[in-house]
Amino acid sequence: MVNILKMKVNETRKQILKALRDYGDYLSGEMLSERLGISRVSIWKHICSLKEDGYVIDTSARGYRLVSSPDLLLPYEFPGLEERIYYFSEIGSTMDLARELAKKGAKEGTIVIAEVQTHGRGRLSREWFSPKGGIYFTIILRPRISPAYAPRINLMISITVAIAIKKLFRLNAQLKWPNDVLIKGRKVCGILAEMNAEMDVINFVNVGIGINANTSIPQFEKTATSLKDTLGREISRKKFLGVLLGEIERWQPQLMKEDSLVEWKKLSETLNRDVKVIAPGEVIVGRAIDIDTTGALIIKQSNGSLTKAMAGDCIHLREKAPETDMGAVSSQ
Ligand code: BTN
Repeated sequence: MVNILKMKVNETRKQILKALRDYGDYLSGEMLSERLGISRVSIWKHICSLKEDGYVIDTSARGYRLVSSPDLLLPYEFPGLEERIYYFSEIGSTMDLARELAKKGAKEGTIVIAEVQTHGRGRLSREWFSPKGGIYFTIILRPRISPAYAPRINLMISITVAIAIKKLFRLNAQLKWPNDVLIKGRKVCGILAEMNAEMDVINFVNVGIGINANTSIPQFEKTATSLKDTLGREISRKKFLGVLLGEIERWQPQLMKEDSLVEWKKLSETLNRDVKVIAPGEVIVGRAIDIDTTGALIIKQSNGSLTKAMAGDCIHLREKAPETDMGAVSSQ
């Protein structure tokens, strides 16, 4: 088991960084030590640790000056959220620690972030390859809704990812039911939700988000892409995550509002398309025509009957059809 306490943000380093950022010039060791109420040797030791983390801090007779910060997803990079973040340069899966934390009563909004996952988990017991350069995190949510509506959380989170991509890169991301984010039809982000609930009350839903940010996807892989491959340049992962966390905060109150369904439909690449949904115990083929208030996909089969898929793997068949055409279904 990971020593959870040790992984929380170091308060002194947080304060040193804040002081250096705010000051913007050389700040003497003496001033820092007075401000923080610790010895100059202690300040120096913390500066060394920050340098080890990748912060470039110039040291001269005038003191310390912050030159640049690394593109790491360190808690210090998300002012105001530091206390909620557990950060790891490497972990098995952020889902596992998040579950442990949630069971111990961690507050809503607690976030577990890792630079690399050695056993990243995807949906339907798949593996989620999690090398350096991606963004991997799990957020603990405690929505006060019936468990029946839990799939809406996936829809909402996928909306926030698409909006963050649009805001920062002006790219049109689309959503594939139940919770993939695509760019030009290729998956750029996967979402995995794990729920702990009783009959009518949710204890927690942990939502794991994996984004292909600065990773390179092999040429032969036609179903996935990364932000770096799409844009032809690396992105600032910390800036992206900052915007995404802001969007999650903004959309949370909309979870059960009509707005979130409307927004999902607007961004959807699945609706009005022939699909094959491999659901637990059944395979449904037909035209995806709508989602209901629980987030289930409504599929019109070729015999005209309507079926709802609550969960499963959705395969898009053929190109998106015009709104009115309910053509024959091809099998990929
Ligand atoms: C999918 O299969 O599409 C879902 C992938 C979810 C991956 C994320 S990365 C952060 C979190 N930790 C994990 O082990 N999985 C999720």
